[in-house]
Amino acid sequence: MNTRYYDLIAKITQWDHEYYVLDDPTVSDAEYDSSFRELLQIESAQPELITPESPSQRVGASPIQDYIKIEHSVRMLSLSNAFSLEETYAFFEKAAKELNIDSVSFNVYSEPKLDGLAISIYYEGGHLVYAATRGDGQVGEDVTHTIKTIKSIPLKLSADQPPKRIDIRGEVFMPKQAFEKLNRLATENNSKVFVNPRNAAAGSIRQMNPKIAAERDLQFIPYGMGTYEGDKAFTKHSDIMGYLHSLGFKLNPHCFNFVGTFDNFTQNYDFMAQHRSELPMEIDGIVYKIDDLTLQNQLGFIARSPKWAVARKFPAQNESTQLLAVDFQVGRTGVLTPVARLAPVFVGGVTVSNATLHNMDEIERLGLCIGDEVEIQRAGDVIPKVVKVISVGSERMPITMPDNCPVCQSIVERTEGQASFRCTGGLTCGAQSAERIKHYASRKFMNINNLGTKLIEVLYDTGKLKTIADIYQLKSEDIADLEGQGIKSAQNVLDSIESSKTTKLGTFIGALGIHEVGEESAKTIAKHFCNLEAISHATLEDLMAVPDIGPVMAKNIEHFFKDNTNQQIIADIIDAGVTWPDEIPPSPNEQPLLGQTWVLTGTLEKLTRIEAKEILEKLGAKVAGSVSKKTDCVVVGKEAGSKLKNAEALGIKTLDENAFLETFKLS
Ligand code: IVH
Repeated sequence: MNTRYYDLIAKITQWDHEYYVLDDPTVSDAEYDSSFRELLQIESAQPELITPESPSQRVGASPIQDYIKIEHSVRMLSLSNAFSLEETYAFFEKAAKELNIDSVSFNVYSEPKLDGLAISIYYEGGHLVYAATRGDGQVGEDVTHTIKTIKSIPLKLSADQPPKRIDIRGEVFMPKQAFEKLNRLATENNSKVFVNPRNAAAGSIRQMNPKIAAERDLQFIPYGMGTYEGDKAFTKHSDIMGYLHSLGFKLNPHCFNFVGTFDNFTQNYDFMAQHRSELPMEIDGIVYKIDDLTLQNQLGFIARSPKWAVARKFPAQNESTQLLAVDFQVGRTGVLTPVARLAPVFVGGVTVSNATLHNMDEIERLGLCIGDEVEIQRAGDVIPKVVKVISVGSERMPITMPDNCPVCQSIVERTEGQASFRCTGGLTCGAQSAERIKHYASRKFMNINNLGTKLIEVLYDTGKLKTIADIYQLKSEDIADLEGQGIKSAQNVLDSIESSKTTKLGTFIGALGIHEVGEESAKTIAKHFCNLEAISHATLEDLMAVPDIGPVMAKNIEHFFKDNTNQQIIADIIDAGVTWPDEIPPSPNEQPLLGQTWVLTGTLEKLTRIEAKEILEKLGAKVAGSVSKKTDCVVVGKEAGSKLKNAEALGIKTLDENAFLETFKLS
């Protein structure tokens, strides 16, 4: 029976490869199904045999509860864009100049720019270990559970001597047909439609439940690799692509390798633009890469993009249609966003019936009224927008901001000095509540591990969670009775609620989701006032005396704490046992960097970014994301780019990682 089991795995894996990667099936559906059934029978009779590479293991048993962060061993980069042939060519002329080559005489490899999301899939000894999203390029989220459901991704690499370690980078996307089918079903079921295939792919990959991802027709095409530890020595990008194909991945048939003359770029672009609409997937441009890896290494990177590759974006596509109505959507912080409801129109492969209008100023700028004929623009991955009025409607209706919130009926107010209008319902507004609860429970704030976003949505919809204070009143049966949950998972949720109760003042303030008060400002406020009592009674002047707190934020904080409902919710949370120690005003000795602003750049080797930031904050410094005249010092890691250049230009002090550790006696 064992040999039969492994035979079946090999056979089904081969058939999947033929069908999903080679587009060349060799077996009938009936034979495939009967073999799959036999495999499942063996696995249910002898569960001890089950191996992670069995095709039955693509869809895991239970949904994940939360996302785990994964640090990429090699940074995942982005691409700079070019918007014309001339710009594209100029990009490579500049590269040639930097390489001391007379003209663009090197080979260029062109690949369709797939409109999906970047994923890194890590294999050890040929076995798929994990897959992660790009995230901020350094740290992404673990999405192994949904990536494994994609049949064109091998669970085991096909190689006699697989590399010790390899992470394969590429794009997960949803083919046009699958996207249209998904949205058709969503419309029929009255559920949310996706604006474009990219959002649909991202939404599917970020599903907690792998079963949902498995039902969506997702595909993966690699475009490179990060880590590689194996015995191959590659000299060209095209060789890497050939190697990835040999490992079992599907490649895009529309890749070309050509000498980078202007004429060749022109021909390549014309060909792709002509065939774009015939492709089964949405593409938003063409990526051009210098094929020679030695030249790539010589050129390196600038900021987050390579100097050896560029994305030539297709121009935006415009169409005209009629504006039928304008609805107002309420976001987490209560901001009302006008959304245009349009007569459906087909633009660049997608039917568009909604477009963003940003805010009332934008409506005024466009001179827009309901009933007008408008031009809408879809630029690749961007949400369609209304760009202008083509002709005014015969029966025009002005667009007005409602006086009351469409969700909770509270008064709508214009944010002083800004274009936005907000619902004043705060934590009592339904539209804001679910999002606020997610914000409160998230990893950055109260970090209630097992209370993930999907579970919050379900508990909110069933009326068990209306405000953040209700989290502490949840009972085992509220969760255990839900589909896909049980007593054990309910207990896990309650346990993580319990263990999240001891927190820090700054974390709690940030968790409340006060408009514009982010993680950093919340910490600053906590350190300044030291206890909640002082914060909730602070006057506008008190608040504005805090470094980095401006008048808008000060007003939001004052407004928040004056609200009786908010006060009651906070009192209930404290009654439920949430505690934090008061902050102790720092003595200048303990905080030698008090009042200073530091910046981290490049890859640190001994510390993670998060650790370095925590150390600096403990020493009293504020850690900023970019270098300015106000920066006191920059800690420089490997491959530092523009921030280091800026620091040098501004004459700001820099320290390498070792010097930083030594200065503060941390090594
Ligand atoms: S190469 C250092 N190649 O475009 C190289 N990216 O705008 C980095 N993308 O994050 C990426 N097709 O998600 C590359 N053939 C292709 C691509 C591609 C789509 C996406 C990818 C990347 C984004 C950058």
